Amino acid sequence: MSISPGGMMTFTINGVRLEVEAPPETSLIDILREKLGLTAAKEACGIGRCGACNVLMNGNLVNACLLSAWQAEGAEIVSLEGLDAFPETRLLRTALAEENAFQCGYCAPGFTMALTALFREHPEACVNDIRAALEGNICRCTGYHSIIRGALAASKALAASASSGDIDGDHHPQQ
Ligand code: FES
Ligand code: FES
Repeated sequence: MSISPGGMMTFTINGVRLEVEAPPETSLIDILREKLGLTAAKEACGIGRCGACNVLMNGNLVNACLLSAWQAEGAEIVSLEGLDAFPETRLLRTALAEENAFQCGYCAPGFTMALTALFREHPEACVNDIRAALEGNICRCTGYHSIIRGALAASKALAASASSGDIDGDHHPQQ
């Protein structure tokens, strides 16, 4: 794939097909934040170490700080702003909130993207799966325990919803 000589890139963001004018070397995180005003993904380390810039590209978790426009040409990108399209997201957000998973929240979009990617593949992920899925995400505030608790609660809620056939999260497990 390549961007046209005029620097126009075409891709799908959160279900909407867009054409954006950008030099081929422009980072995907800059396109999202500066060109499209989608500011949930953050640029923190800028070198692929922290996960603050996580988005899904063609269903795979990627670091938007490491990708250039030409690499995203024609791709389907989902940022945190588009996660409501996934039924797993409602349960995940509720579980993270109920466990007070985050403090300042700066890392929350990246963790949420990483966990969504995990649960779409493995809805009943165990704690080891969760830890492995979050290896690329850094949180400076929490010590991670609350995030892991929230993710485990989400996994249990997803399993309960799957067995009741209610993946949209209307199932309310007994307290
Ligand atoms: S900003 Fe992209 S991984 Fe840290
Ligand atoms: S909650 Fe502050 S960086 Fe994670």
